[in-house]
Amino acid sequence: MAEGTGTLPRKLDHIRIAVEKEVESGHPTLLGDVRIVHQPAPEVDLDSVDLSVEVFGKRLSAPLMITGMTGGHPDVEWVNAALARVAERHGIAIGVGSQRAAIEDPSVEETYRVVRREAPTTVVVANLGAPQLVLGYGVEEALRAVEMVRADALAIHLNPAQEAFQLEGDTRYRGLLRAVKEIVDNVGVPVVVKETGTGLSMEAVRQLSALGVECFDVSGLGGTNWVKVEVLRARERGVEPPRPPDGFTDYWGNPTALAVVEARVAAPRACVIASGGIRTGLDAARAIALGADLAGVALPALRALYRGGDEALDRLIASLKEQLRVAAYLAGAPTVRDLMVRPLTITGRLREELEARGISLGALVRAKIARLMALGRRV
Ligand SMILES: Cc1cc2nc3c(=O)[nH]c(=O)nc-3n(C[C@H](O)[C@H](O)[C@H](O)COP(=O)(O)O)c2cc1C
Repeated sequence: MAEGTGTLPRKLDHIRIAVEKEVESGHPTLLGDVRIVHQPAPEVDLDSVDLSVEVFGKRLSAPLMITGMTGGHPDVEWVNAALARVAERHGIAIGVGSQRAAIEDPSVEETYRVVRREAPTTVVVANLGAPQLVLGYGVEEALRAVEMVRADALAIHLNPAQEAFQLEGDTRYRGLLRAVKEIVDNVGVPVVVKETGTGLSMEAVRQLSALGVECFDVSGLGGTNWVKVEVLRARERGVEPPRPPDGFTDYWGNPTALAVVEARVAAPRACVIASGGIRTGLDAARAIALGADLAGVALPALRALYRGGDEALDRLIASLKEQLRVAAYLAGAPTVRDLMVRPLTITGRLREELEARGISLGALVRAKIARLMALGRRV
């Protein structure tokens, strides 16, 4: 993700720390406060539940994505190759990690190109970081990133919390909106704006949607926490992060469930990807019921691969799909899209947060119906 001086060793540090250390936020995603109402007479056969969805003009076999993590160092090429192979086999979407490394050093392009080679037909999403846009990357770099993996969309990642605690962090974010607009207008593929574990907000989604951003990956609080990763990385070197992190890791950010609702309400017709702490197919089902189009996983895919290779990653994706299928069946949803409008209850902290943010359940239902209508479905 964020790089600066010493990009290459830092990429390896990030992967190693994410695989080996406790890097998940102690704060919940709040998906636990969502209950999809059980329907004992569902009028749907389990085996006939249709999980397929269309995104960026392509049909996926299930509403799932392995979100961007890596590339940029020869030692991680096999990771991107394996993630892409499994994504292609399962017909799900895949993102690459920040392509800054290859923009700066074309000799590592291959570590990203391998994704399109191993995943020739499925949705592939390119990736650049907001700090690079602020510091001068523009349409030219965006087009190179897209061409490199023949991407169906370009993700621009926002990681201001990580940058604040990274030893070499770039904390300049002023001017980002203008840079995003320039790219949206000229890159020729849909732009996804994604967070990286501290969650999009209603305000950000509204601003970015007005610029023409078509898709939002909320990457909320409750999963991989980049403040934790950077603190661990600094302390491994015997130094403290540039600012005291106490309290931030399990507090700061917009929890995933809340971020999904905020994105859906702020941009009712846009595509919304739920990620950050999605660990089971049931988490994915709850996020879709709240208004997401797709659910994304990063850390669990990486860990499965390191622990058990392609086979373990295969099992993870298969189990996400099967749990999604069961949830749709038990909710009485013949297709996974129908999950979005099946009865659910929201209680506890998520309900309180929604109230505190001035979001009514009625507004959420209207936004979800607007999304389904934008997809051309009768509701
Ligand atoms: C090792 C690792 C590297 C990552 N690198 C990037 C990156 O380069 N660009 C990006 O947009 N997100 C990056 N992410 C963030 C993920 O795409 C995702 O938004 C976040 O980890 C939350 O999902 P999770 O809880 O399932 O891991 C990275 C995540 C991990 C675990």
